[in-house]
Amino acid sequence: MKFTILDSDEDEYVPFEKFTKKKHNPKPMHSHRAMSQHINEDGDTRYDESGLQELYEQGHINEVVRMIRRGKEATVYVCRNEQQQLLAAKVYTDMTVRSFRNDTVYRDNRFIGSKRLEKAVQQHTKTGVDAQQALWIYEEFRQLHYFYSHNIAVPKPIAYSGRVILMEFIGDESGEAPRLSDCDISPAIARDAFQQSMELLQNIVALGRIHGDFSTYNILWWQSHCIAIDFPQVIEIQRSPHARELLRRDIHSLCHSFARLGVHSNEEIIFKKIEHYADWRK
Ligand SMILES: Nc1ncnc2c1ncn2[C@@H]1O[C@H](COP(=O)(O)OP(=O)(O)OP(=O)(O)O)[C@@H](O)[C@H]1O
Ligand SMILES: [Mg+2]
Repeated sequence: MKFTILDSDEDEYVPFEKFTKKKHNPKPMHSHRAMSQHINEDGDTRYDESGLQELYEQGHINEVVRMIRRGKEATVYVCRNEQQQLLAAKVYTDMTVRSFRNDTVYRDNRFIGSKRLEKAVQQHTKTGVDAQQALWIYEEFRQLHYFYSHNIAVPKPIAYSGRVILMEFIGDESGEAPRLSDCDISPAIARDAFQQSMELLQNIVALGRIHGDFSTYNILWWQSHCIAIDFPQVIEIQRSPHARELLRRDIHSLCHSFARLGVHSNEEIIFKKIEHYADWRK
C-alpha cells in the first residue's frame, strides 16, 4: 500500500496502479487501545483497512481523539501525534460498501495512466471501483498539497495512506473551527467572510482550478479567516470540458449559501469578474 509524505513542491502524477494494490493480512493494532477504542465507538470496525493503522505505524499519529463529523463520503477525526499536536484525519468510506457517486463530470479527462484501469473504471468492475476510489483520495491530497504550496488558505497536508488523508487540524484544544454555514455572525462579519471567500475562489481560478463544491459548507471560519476544505472534486481548467459550467455552479453555491448569512450578491457580475482570472485556452 502506498504511503507518502510530501515535503517537496512535487506535482507529479504517480502511476495509478500503485494506489490500487490491496494490502493482505494487515497487521494487528499492537496494543494501541486509544485508537481502536475511539474508532470502534463510532461504529467503524474497518479501521485496520482504512489506512489509519499505517499512519500510526509510521509515527504520524498516536491517538484518535474523537470524531468531528461523519459526512456523505468521509468521516473526519481529530488525532494527536507524539508531540501532542492535533491533526485532522479524513477517512473515506469504502466505496465498495457505499452508494456509488456519479463523478463523470469531474472525471472526464483526468489522467489515470493505465489503459487497463481506465477500462476497469468505465466498466465499474471491482478493480475499477477500487481505482476510482483511490483516484478521488489521491486527487484530494494532490490538490490540497498544490493549493497549500501556492499559499491558498487550506489546511497543511501531512500524509495519506489508504483511504485516509492526514492534515493540519483547524481549531484548538477547545474544539474545531466551525463551518461558515454554522456560524452565527453579524452582517459586517459575514460581508468580510464573503470578500475573503471571493478572493479564495479567484485565487483558485487563477491557479487554473475550480473547487467543484465551493460553498459555506466547505469553508471553515477560524480566527476571522476563511479556510477552504474538501477537494476531491477539484478540476483543472485545461483538462476539463466542464470547467465553465462548474465555475458557474461554484459561484451559484457560494452566493446562495452566503444569502443565508445575509449577504446578497449578483452571480452574473461575479462570474464575469472571476472568469477573467482563468486561462480558458485549450
Ligand atoms: N482540517 C480540518 N480541521 C478541522 N475540521 C475539519 C478539517 N477538515 C474537515 N473538517 C471538518 O470535517 C467536516 C467534513 O469534512 P469534508 O467537508 O472534507 O468532508 P465531506 O465528506 O465533504 O463531508 P460533508 O459531507 O459533511 O461535507 C467539515 O465540514 C469540517 O467540519
Ligand atoms: Mg464537505
